[in-house]
Amino acid sequence: VSSAFSSDSSSGKPSPPVGVELLTPWPHAHLITSSDWDLVTVRTLLKTANHYFQTVFQTGSSSSCNPSDNHSVLTGHSVVNLFYEQSTRTRISFELAAKKLGATVINFEVSTSSVGKGESLEDTLSTLIAMGINAIVVRHASSGTPVLLHRQFGEAIHIINAGDGTHDHPTQGLLDLLTLFNAFELPLGTGTLQGKKVVIVGDILHSRVARSNLYFLNLLGATVHVVAPPALLPKNIEDLGCTAHHHLEKALQDADVVMGLRLQRERQSDQFVASLAEYTHFYGLTQDRLQRFCKPGVFIMHPGPVNRGVEMSSDLIDHPQSLITKQVRYGVAVRMAILSLCLSKPLTKS
Ligand code: CP
Repeated sequence: VSSAFSSDSSSGKPSPPVGVELLTPWPHAHLITSSDWDLVTVRTLLKTANHYFQTVFQTGSSSSCNPSDNHSVLTGHSVVNLFYEQSTRTRISFELAAKKLGATVINFEVSTSSVGKGESLEDTLSTLIAMGINAIVVRHASSGTPVLLHRQFGEAIHIINAGDGTHDHPTQGLLDLLTLFNAFELPLGTGTLQGKKVVIVGDILHSRVARSNLYFLNLLGATVHVVAPPALLPKNIEDLGCTAHHHLEKALQDADVVMGLRLQRERQSDQFVASLAEYTHFYGLTQDRLQRFCKPGVFIMHPGPVNRGVEMSSDLIDHPQSLITKQVRYGVAVRMAILSLCLSKPLTKS
Protein backbone atom coordinates (compact mmCIF):
# COMPACT_ATOMS: atom_id res chain seq x y z
CA VAL A 1 0.00 0.00 0.00
CA SER A 2 1.54 3.29 -1.02
CA SER A 3 1.67 6.39 1.11
CA ALA A 4 -1.57 8.34 1.26
CA PHE A 5 0.32 11.61 1.68
CA SER A 6 0.56 13.80 -1.36
CA SER A 7 3.95 14.07 -2.99
CA ASP A 8 6.16 17.09 -2.71
CA SER A 9 6.94 17.63 -6.39
CA SER A 10 10.41 19.05 -5.68
CA SER A 11 11.71 16.11 -3.66
CA GLY A 12 9.19 13.37 -4.44
CA LYS A 13 8.88 12.75 -0.69
CA PRO A 14 5.54 12.48 1.12
CA SER A 15 4.28 15.79 2.45
CA PRO A 16 2.37 14.99 5.65
CA PRO A 17 -0.26 17.23 7.26
CA VAL A 18 0.69 19.72 9.97
CA GLY A 19 1.05 17.96 13.33
CA VAL A 20 3.06 15.05 12.09
CA GLU A 21 6.27 16.81 13.11
CA LEU A 22 5.46 15.59 16.63
CA LEU A 23 5.65 12.00 15.54
CA THR A 24 7.49 10.96 12.43
CA PRO A 25 7.01 8.39 11.12
CA TRP A 26 3.34 8.01 12.09
CA PRO A 27 3.11 4.53 13.67
CA HIS A 28 -0.50 3.32 13.25
CA ALA A 29 -2.17 1.85 10.17
CA HIS A 30 -5.36 1.21 12.18
CA LEU A 31 -7.42 2.61 15.04
CA ILE A 32 -8.64 -0.44 16.92
CA THR A 33 -8.67 0.44 20.63
CA SER A 34 -8.20 3.82 22.35
CA SER A 35 -5.45 2.55 24.62
CA ASP A 36 -3.32 1.52 21.60
CA TRP A 37 -2.52 5.24 21.14
CA ASP A 38 -0.03 6.86 23.50
CA LEU A 39 0.35 10.53 24.46
CA VAL A 40 2.60 11.57 21.55
CA THR A 41 0.31 9.81 19.07
CA VAL A 42 -2.74 11.56 20.50
CA ARG A 43 -1.04 14.98 20.45
CA THR A 44 -0.03 14.45 16.83
CA LEU A 45 -3.57 13.45 15.92
CA LEU A 46 -5.04 16.50 17.67
CA LYS A 47 -2.64 18.89 15.96
CA THR A 48 -3.37 17.37 12.56
CA ALA A 49 -7.13 17.48 13.20
CA ASN A 50 -6.95 21.09 14.29
CA HIS A 51 -5.08 21.96 11.11
CA TYR A 52 -7.88 20.36 9.10
CA PHE A 53 -10.47 22.17 11.24
CA GLN A 54 -8.87 25.55 10.63
CA THR A 55 -8.37 25.04 6.92
CA VAL A 56 -11.68 23.33 6.18
CA PHE A 57 -14.12 25.02 8.56
CA GLN A 58 -12.60 28.32 9.62
CA THR A 59 -11.85 29.55 6.10
CA GLY A 60 -15.55 29.39 5.20
CA SER A 61 -14.71 27.16 2.26
CA SER A 62 -15.84 23.85 3.65
CA SER A 63 -16.57 22.51 0.18
CA SER A 64 -13.11 23.17 -1.21
CA CYS A 65 -10.26 20.68 -1.16
CA ASN A 66 -7.07 22.48 -2.00
CA PRO A 67 -4.47 19.89 -3.04
CA SER A 68 -1.66 22.24 -2.03
CA ASP A 69 -3.08 22.17 1.50
CA ASN A 70 -2.93 18.40 1.51
CA HIS A 71 -6.69 17.91 1.32
CA SER A 72 -6.62 15.42 -1.53
CA VAL A 73 -4.29 12.92 0.10
CA LEU A 74 -6.73 10.05 -0.30
CA THR A 75 -7.42 10.48 -4.01
CA GLY A 76 -7.44 7.00 -5.50
CA HIS A 77 -8.25 5.37 -2.17
CA SER A 78 -11.56 3.72 -1.28
CA VAL A 79 -13.21 3.66 2.14
CA VAL A 80 -16.24 1.57 3.12
CA ASN A 81 -18.41 2.67 6.01
CA LEU A 82 -19.38 -0.71 7.47
CA PHE A 83 -22.02 0.17 10.03
CA TYR A 84 -23.92 -2.74 11.59
CA GLU A 85 -25.48 -0.30 14.07
CA GLN A 86 -27.36 2.93 13.58
CA SER A 87 -25.46 6.21 13.45
CA THR A 88 -25.90 9.78 12.29
CA ARG A 89 -22.84 11.72 13.50
CA THR A 90 -20.10 9.10 13.16
CA ARG A 91 -21.16 7.65 9.81
CA ILE A 92 -21.84 10.95 8.09
CA SER A 93 -18.72 12.65 9.47
CA PHE A 94 -16.54 9.75 8.33
CA GLU A 95 -18.16 9.97 4.90
CA LEU A 96 -17.64 13.73 4.80
CA ALA A 97 -14.06 13.41 6.08
CA ALA A 98 -13.08 10.79 3.50
CA LYS A 99 -14.70 12.76 0.67
CA LYS A 100 -12.97 15.99 1.72
CA LEU A 101 -9.69 14.06 1.45
CA GLY A 102 -10.52 12.90 -2.06
CA ALA A 103 -11.37 9.25 -1.29
CA THR A 104 -14.12 7.21 -2.90
CA VAL A 105 -16.63 6.39 -0.15
CA ILE A 106 -19.10 3.52 -0.13
CA ASN A 107 -21.76 3.25 2.56
CA PHE A 108 -22.50 -0.41 3.24
CA GLU A 109 -26.19 -0.84 3.94
CA VAL A 110 -26.69 -3.90 6.15
CA SER A 111 -30.41 -4.08 5.32
CA THR A 112 -29.82 -4.34 1.55
CA SER A 113 -26.57 -6.33 1.68
CA SER A 114 -26.01 -10.07 1.63
CA VAL A 115 -25.82 -10.05 5.44
CA GLY A 116 -29.56 -10.79 5.25
CA LYS A 117 -28.73 -13.97 3.29
CA GLY A 118 -26.50 -15.12 6.14
CA GLU A 119 -23.09 -13.84 4.99
CA SER A 120 -20.70 -13.49 7.93
CA LEU A 121 -18.74 -10.36 8.83
CA GLU A 122 -15.51 -12.18 7.95
CA ASP A 123 -16.78 -13.17 4.49
CA THR A 124 -18.09 -9.65 3.96
CA LEU A 125 -14.66 -8.24 4.72
CA SER A 126 -12.91 -10.79 2.49
CA THR A 127 -15.23 -9.70 -0.30
CA LEU A 128 -14.38 -6.01 0.20
CA ILE A 129 -10.65 -6.81 0.26
CA ALA A 130 -11.00 -8.80 -2.98
CA MET A 131 -12.51 -5.69 -4.56
CA GLY A 132 -9.45 -3.65 -3.58
CA ILE A 133 -11.05 -1.52 -0.86
CA ASN A 134 -8.30 0.25 1.14
CA ALA A 135 -10.06 0.91 4.46
CA ILE A 136 -13.14 0.08 6.47
CA VAL A 137 -14.75 2.16 9.18
CA VAL A 138 -16.60 -0.39 11.29
CA ARG A 139 -19.34 -0.04 13.89
CA HIS A 140 -20.72 -3.20 15.45
CA ALA A 141 -22.90 -4.10 18.44
CA SER A 142 -20.46 -6.80 19.49
CA SER A 143 -17.62 -5.56 21.74
CA GLY A 144 -14.21 -6.52 20.38
CA THR A 145 -15.23 -6.81 16.72
CA PRO A 146 -12.40 -4.51 15.47
CA VAL A 147 -9.84 -6.52 17.46
CA LEU A 148 -10.96 -9.75 15.80
CA LEU A 149 -11.05 -8.17 12.34
CA HIS A 150 -7.59 -6.69 12.84
CA ARG A 151 -6.20 -10.07 13.86
CA GLN A 152 -7.52 -11.69 10.68
CA PHE A 153 -7.34 -8.87 8.11
CA GLY A 154 -4.97 -6.23 9.50
CA GLU A 155 -2.33 -6.90 6.83
CA ALA A 156 -4.83 -6.46 4.00
CA ILE A 157 -6.98 -3.45 4.86
CA HIS A 158 -6.93 -0.43 7.19
CA ILE A 159 -9.46 -0.84 10.03
CA ILE A 160 -10.94 2.10 11.94
CA ASN A 161 -13.15 1.47 14.97
CA ALA A 162 -16.31 3.59 14.85
CA GLY A 163 -17.75 2.07 18.03
CA ASP A 164 -17.89 -1.55 19.24
CA GLY A 165 -20.62 -2.61 21.63
CA THR A 166 -20.13 -1.21 25.11
CA HIS A 167 -16.33 -1.38 24.75
CA ASP A 168 -14.84 1.60 22.91
CA HIS A 169 -15.57 4.59 20.68
CA PRO A 170 -12.06 5.98 20.11
CA THR A 171 -12.94 8.66 17.56
CA GLN A 172 -15.54 10.12 19.97
CA GLY A 173 -12.93 10.25 22.75
CA LEU A 174 -10.48 12.01 20.44
CA LEU A 175 -12.98 14.58 19.17
CA ASP A 176 -14.02 15.27 22.77
CA LEU A 177 -10.36 15.96 23.60
CA LEU A 178 -9.97 18.38 20.69
CA THR A 179 -13.19 20.14 21.71
CA LEU A 180 -11.94 20.55 25.30
CA PHE A 181 -8.45 21.69 24.35
CA ASN A 182 -9.89 24.40 22.12
CA ALA A 183 -12.57 25.38 24.67
CA PHE A 184 -9.88 25.87 27.33
CA GLU A 185 -7.51 27.40 24.74
CA LEU A 186 -4.75 24.92 25.56
CA PRO A 187 -1.77 24.27 23.27
CA LEU A 188 -2.34 20.99 21.45
CA GLY A 189 1.31 19.95 21.29
CA THR A 190 2.16 20.49 24.94
CA GLY A 191 -0.97 21.30 26.99
CA THR A 192 -2.65 19.08 29.53
CA LEU A 193 -6.03 18.94 31.27
CA GLN A 194 -4.38 18.87 34.69
CA GLY A 195 -6.54 20.62 37.29
CA LYS A 196 -9.70 20.17 35.20
CA LYS A 197 -12.54 18.18 36.76
CA VAL A 198 -14.69 16.35 34.20
CA VAL A 199 -17.95 14.75 35.41
CA ILE A 200 -19.57 12.09 33.20
CA VAL A 201 -23.25 11.51 34.05
CA GLY A 202 -25.53 8.77 32.73
CA ASP A 203 -25.59 5.19 31.59
CA ILE A 204 -21.96 4.38 32.34
CA LEU A 205 -22.61 0.62 32.26
CA HIS A 206 -23.46 0.54 28.55
CA SER A 207 -21.34 3.49 27.44
CA ARG A 208 -18.39 2.96 25.10
CA VAL A 209 -18.07 6.76 25.05
CA ALA A 210 -17.44 6.79 28.81
CA ARG A 211 -14.72 4.13 28.49
CA SER A 212 -12.94 5.92 25.62
CA ASN A 213 -13.14 9.23 27.45
CA LEU A 214 -11.79 7.69 30.64
CA TYR A 215 -8.70 6.59 28.74
CA PHE A 216 -8.09 9.84 26.82
CA LEU A 217 -8.99 12.23 29.67
CA ASN A 218 -6.66 10.41 32.06
CA LEU A 219 -3.92 10.36 29.43
CA LEU A 220 -4.13 14.18 29.24
CA GLY A 221 -4.21 14.58 33.02
CA ALA A 222 -7.87 15.43 33.78
CA THR A 223 -9.58 14.33 36.98
CA VAL A 224 -12.63 12.26 36.03
CA HIS A 225 -15.76 11.56 38.07
CA VAL A 226 -18.61 9.33 36.88
CA VAL A 227 -22.19 9.37 38.17
CA ALA A 228 -25.05 6.92 37.60
CA PRO A 229 -27.77 5.01 39.42
CA PRO A 230 -26.28 1.89 41.08
CA ALA A 231 -27.56 -0.46 38.37
CA LEU A 232 -25.88 1.62 35.63
CA LEU A 233 -22.47 1.94 37.29
CA PRO A 234 -20.08 -1.02 36.78
CA LYS A 235 -18.48 -2.19 40.03
CA ASN A 236 -14.90 -1.96 38.72
CA ILE A 237 -15.25 1.38 36.93
CA GLU A 238 -12.79 3.10 39.30
CA ASP A 239 -10.08 0.76 37.96
CA LEU A 240 -10.30 2.82 34.74
CA GLY A 241 -9.18 5.98 36.55
CA CYS A 242 -12.15 7.82 38.03
CA THR A 243 -14.14 8.45 41.18
CA ALA A 244 -17.61 6.88 41.08
CA HIS A 245 -20.76 8.43 42.55
CA HIS A 246 -24.45 7.71 42.85
CA HIS A 247 -25.19 11.22 44.13
CA LEU A 248 -25.25 13.77 41.30
CA GLU A 249 -24.98 16.98 43.33
CA LYS A 250 -21.93 15.68 45.21
CA ALA A 251 -20.19 14.73 41.97
CA LEU A 252 -20.92 18.08 40.30
CA GLN A 253 -19.13 20.04 43.02
CA ASP A 254 -16.58 22.39 41.37
CA ALA A 255 -16.81 20.68 37.97
CA ASP A 256 -15.14 22.36 34.98
CA VAL A 257 -16.88 20.12 32.46
CA VAL A 258 -20.09 18.07 32.65
CA MET A 259 -20.68 15.40 30.03
CA GLY A 260 -24.17 13.89 29.80
CA LEU A 261 -24.75 10.42 28.37
CA ARG A 262 -27.87 8.89 26.88
CA LEU A 263 -29.78 6.09 28.57
CA GLN A 264 -29.02 3.30 26.07
CA ARG A 265 -32.34 1.54 26.19
CA GLU A 266 -31.46 -0.49 23.07
CA ARG A 267 -28.75 -2.25 25.14
CA GLN A 268 -30.78 -2.61 28.34
CA SER A 269 -32.24 -6.09 28.68
CA ASP A 270 -33.41 -5.44 32.25
CA GLN A 271 -35.18 -2.52 33.81
CA PHE A 272 -32.19 -0.53 35.05
CA VAL A 273 -34.18 2.51 36.16
CA ALA A 274 -37.65 2.53 37.72
CA SER A 275 -38.90 5.11 35.23
CA LEU A 276 -37.54 7.82 32.96
CA ALA A 277 -39.19 10.43 35.16
CA GLU A 278 -37.41 9.09 38.22
CA TYR A 279 -34.08 8.98 36.36
CA THR A 280 -34.51 12.60 35.27
CA HIS A 281 -35.48 13.63 38.78
CA PHE A 282 -32.26 12.26 40.29
CA TYR A 283 -29.77 12.45 37.40
CA GLY A 284 -31.14 14.91 34.84
CA LEU A 285 -28.74 17.78 34.05
CA THR A 286 -30.42 21.19 34.33
CA GLN A 287 -29.20 24.78 34.38
CA ASP A 288 -30.24 25.09 37.99
CA ARG A 289 -28.17 22.09 39.07
CA LEU A 290 -25.09 23.22 37.16
CA GLN A 291 -25.33 26.81 38.43
CA ARG A 292 -25.63 25.68 42.03
CA PHE A 293 -22.80 23.14 42.11
CA CYS A 294 -20.32 23.57 39.24
CA LYS A 295 -17.68 26.22 38.63
CA PRO A 296 -18.92 29.37 36.86
CA GLY A 297 -18.49 28.90 33.12
CA VAL A 298 -18.70 25.12 33.31
CA PHE A 299 -18.68 23.52 29.84
CA ILE A 300 -21.53 21.19 28.84
CA MET A 301 -20.89 18.20 26.57
CA HIS A 302 -22.87 15.28 25.15
CA PRO A 303 -21.78 12.83 22.42
CA GLY A 304 -25.32 12.72 21.00
CA PRO A 305 -27.90 11.72 20.18
CA VAL A 306 -29.57 13.51 23.10
CA ASN A 307 -32.90 12.59 24.62
CA ARG A 308 -33.98 16.17 25.34
CA GLY A 309 -35.52 16.52 28.75
CA VAL A 310 -34.37 13.08 29.93
CA GLU A 311 -30.61 13.21 30.63
CA MET A 312 -30.30 16.91 29.85
CA SER A 313 -32.73 19.84 29.69
CA SER A 314 -33.21 21.62 26.36
CA ASP A 315 -31.99 24.97 27.70
CA LEU A 316 -28.70 23.35 28.70
CA ILE A 317 -28.21 21.73 25.28
CA ASP A 318 -28.63 25.12 23.61
CA HIS A 319 -26.77 27.08 26.32
CA PRO A 320 -23.84 29.34 25.28
CA GLN A 321 -21.52 27.12 27.38
CA SER A 322 -22.70 24.00 25.54
CA LEU A 323 -19.98 22.43 23.35
CA ILE A 324 -22.33 19.90 21.75
CA THR A 325 -22.41 21.47 18.28
CA LYS A 326 -18.65 22.04 18.42
CA GLN A 327 -18.15 18.34 19.24
CA VAL A 328 -19.94 17.48 16.01
CA ARG A 329 -17.91 19.97 13.95
CA TYR A 330 -14.58 18.85 15.41
CA GLY A 331 -15.66 15.27 14.67
CA VAL A 332 -15.23 15.79 10.94
CA ALA A 333 -11.72 17.22 11.36
CA VAL A 334 -10.67 14.45 13.77
CA ARG A 335 -11.87 11.81 11.32
CA MET A 336 -10.01 13.53 8.47
CA ALA A 337 -6.84 13.32 10.56
CA ILE A 338 -7.41 9.68 11.47
CA LEU A 339 -8.03 8.64 7.87
CA SER A 340 -5.14 10.62 6.40
CA LEU A 341 -2.65 9.48 9.04
CA CYS A 342 -3.66 5.81 9.28
CA LEU A 343 -3.84 5.36 5.52
CA SER A 344 -0.37 6.91 5.20
CA LYS A 345 1.11 4.01 7.16
CA PRO A 346 1.86 1.00 4.96
CA LEU A 347 0.14 -2.22 6.00
CA THR A 348 2.68 -4.70 7.31
CA LYS A 349 2.79 -8.11 8.90
CA SER A 350 2.46 -7.64 12.68
N1 CP B 1 -21.89 10.06 19.15
C1 CP B 1 -22.22 9.14 18.23
O1 CP B 1 -21.56 8.11 18.06
O2 CP B 1 -23.35 9.43 17.53
P1 CP B 1 -23.95 8.54 16.37
O3 CP B 1 -24.46 7.25 16.99
O4 CP B 1 -25.06 9.37 15.77
O5 CP B 1 -22.86 8.23 15.40
